[in-house]
Amino acid sequence: MKNYLIAPSILSADFACLGEDTARVLSAGADMVHFDAMDNHFVPNLTMGPIVLRSLRNYGITAPIDVHLMVQSVDRLIPDFADAGASYIAFHVEASQHIDRSLQIIKEHGCKAGLVFNPATPLSCLEYVIDKLDIILLISVNPGFSGQSFLPSTLDKLRQARQIIDRSGKDIRLEVDGGVKVDNIADIAAAGADIFVSGSAIFSQSDYRPVIDAMRQALAGATEHV
Ligand code: DX5
Ligand code: ZN
Repeated sequence: MKNYLIAPSILSADFACLGEDTARVLSAGADMVHFDAMDNHFVPNLTMGPIVLRSLRNYGITAPIDVHLMVQSVDRLIPDFADAGASYIAFHVEASQHIDRSLQIIKEHGCKAGLVFNPATPLSCLEYVIDKLDIILLISVNPGFSGQSFLPSTLDKLRQARQIIDRSGKDIRLEVDGGVKVDNIADIAAAGADIFVSGSAIFSQSDYRPVIDAMRQALAGATEHV
């Protein structure tokens, strides 16, 4: 089986005991932590910043933390997230005036870099920055909230992104975020994704292990059609 990674979005975790809940989802078999930073400008919601990420590290979370920036002033916040312990930092193409520069800042601060595409945002700029990317993240809902339904148009876009990655010959991960569940994860994998963010589908359960196991089982049956 391909090296698929499951990245629970802690946006759906219990913020009153975030360290404990994050540790619990990791010991239930998750591979990494997806951290949604929202600023009430780029998206209509307000969540968590670098201080919260640092607290998770101080609590003892050692797994990779995948920061999904949904903020306007991307460049200003990248160093703070890197210093706080981010592993990956990804930002939306619409949120940076100078995409190449923002990617460079992420690299200079020792993190892996990702570029994020909203459902209606074309992939065209990839052509110019593919050499600087570690992750391409396709958002499969309108960003801002967990618990929305997966937009089916993302499947074609994933196939396109997979082709671009394969043609580049680079080791770039293709991540998908929004509405990922046990019953659609195999189709999403077949379209080319290899990191699966899932929030409500995991955290709505009282025990996280069965749903993560079911996702892995569905992934084991997935075949890729590119
Ligand atoms: C949406 C966020 C997602 C969200 C996913 O803007 O980027 O990470 O938490 O949640 P689900 O899996 O519930 O759609
Ligand atoms: Zn996200």
